[in-house]
Amino acid sequence: MDHFLYRNGALHAEDVPVAEIAAAVGTPFYLYSTATLTRHFKLFDEALDWTDHLVCFAMKSASNQAILRVLANAGAGMDVVSVGEYLRAKAAGVPGEKIVFSGVGKTAEEMRMALEGGIRQFNVESEPEMAMLDQVAQSLGTVAPITIRVNPDVDAKTHAKIATGKSENKFGIPISRACEVYAMAARMPGLRVVGIDVHIGSQLTELAPFEAAYQKVAELTELLRAEGHDITRLDLGGGLGIPYTRSNEAPPLPTEYGALIQRTLGHLGCEIEIEPGRLISGNAGIMVSKVIYVKSGEDRDFLILDGAMNDLIRPAMYDAWHDIVPIIEPQPGQEPAKYDIVGPICESGDTFAKGREMPQLRADDLVAFRSAGAYGAVMSSEYNSRPMIPEVLVDKDQFAVIRPRPTYEEMISRDTLPSWLE
Ligand code: LLP
Repeated sequence: MDHFLYRNGALHAEDVPVAEIAAAVGTPFYLYSTATLTRHFKLFDEALDWTDHLVCFAMKSASNQAILRVLANAGAGMDVVSVGEYLRAKAAGVPGEKIVFSGVGKTAEEMRMALEGGIRQFNVESEPEMAMLDQVAQSLGTVAPITIRVNPDVDAKTHAKIATGKSENKFGIPISRACEVYAMAARMPGLRVVGIDVHIGSQLTELAPFEAAYQKVAELTELLRAEGHDITRLDLGGGLGIPYTRSNEAPPLPTEYGALIQRTLGHLGCEIEIEPGRLISGNAGIMVSKVIYVKSGEDRDFLILDGAMNDLIRPAMYDAWHDIVPIIEPQPGQEPAKYDIVGPICESGDTFAKGREMPQLRADDLVAFRSAGAYGAVMSSEYNSRPMIPEVLVDKDQFAVIRPRPTYEEMISRDTLPSWLE
């Protein structure tokens, strides 16, 4: 459930008409709902109420500091994958002891900065990374808490570009080698093993792959404990999918996911960490765009929007579906039209939808892309020299710009000419 609903014939974000925000900030823009963010975080938090746990928001999905602050206020930790994310989390007020550091390519400099600033744990993904972290920690006279990310060789049954738990993927160490690698870690004075980490992919719409992976983690926990390792914490990654279309079958709920964790891992008495991103932020955000032209092609009509693939890359990159709805509520009995919905960028990949049924629209009409809160703004770029679009946060009847639209001057002035070209 989200808080973007039609009221009195107009789409609202919580208690604010979306058209009112569009008039104030211009289009296109991203718009987030505080109530939806908080609600989704709480669903996970409550689903793990049966044990000691921390829900670490995967901030790669939405990293605006205002969003992080909303979630941190609700009790969230953060899952970061770069020191840039780490510093953003800190700037948003998240303490180091609630930040976990994931990612296959952490550099020595990133490790140093996180160790100095305080960190809950590093999720280590390879032996060379482990050796580097050991060295960095020792050089700082400290000990780095770690889990080791294991690759369970499980098919997450999701889009190939976002599956991470098969042996051919670059992530983690093969679970078959885990004992050997944990033994190596135990011998390194700069490291303290605290647990196991696993993450098998994103936008999972079934529980079975999680179950297969978590069963393997349960077996590994017992094995490692028998070998003398102190496994007290299990980081189970993120990945629970969201409904991208209202007509689709709904993916499992956080409560069902929490129950699955309890069933497969509850008996081990470990502290549980999870790293959901999309399920917290995805349906908590929309992208609002305006029709520039309605263009009649030979055999189809094009809706040319002011938003483009540089603003929301998911359809071009993953063939992802986003519901696109008019800001004015469609009325029953209205004759639907069919459009190819495209942006102004100079390549055919700049297509959001083909042959999409919509009510008849005209130039200047507003539309909203639903489920755009995760991997939307964070993946945007300035391709075609289009300034990054603003982000806006709603809380009940108030809204605020949480990242302004840069002026053309600001965008252009970031380039510098070398002296020989001046
Ligand atoms: N933890 C780790 C280690 C991850 O790699 C990811 C996502 C997450 C947690 C959060 O997964 P979530 O709960 O959001 O599914 N750009 C793609 C998604 C990439 C996901 C990458 N890793 C998209 O737009 O679909």
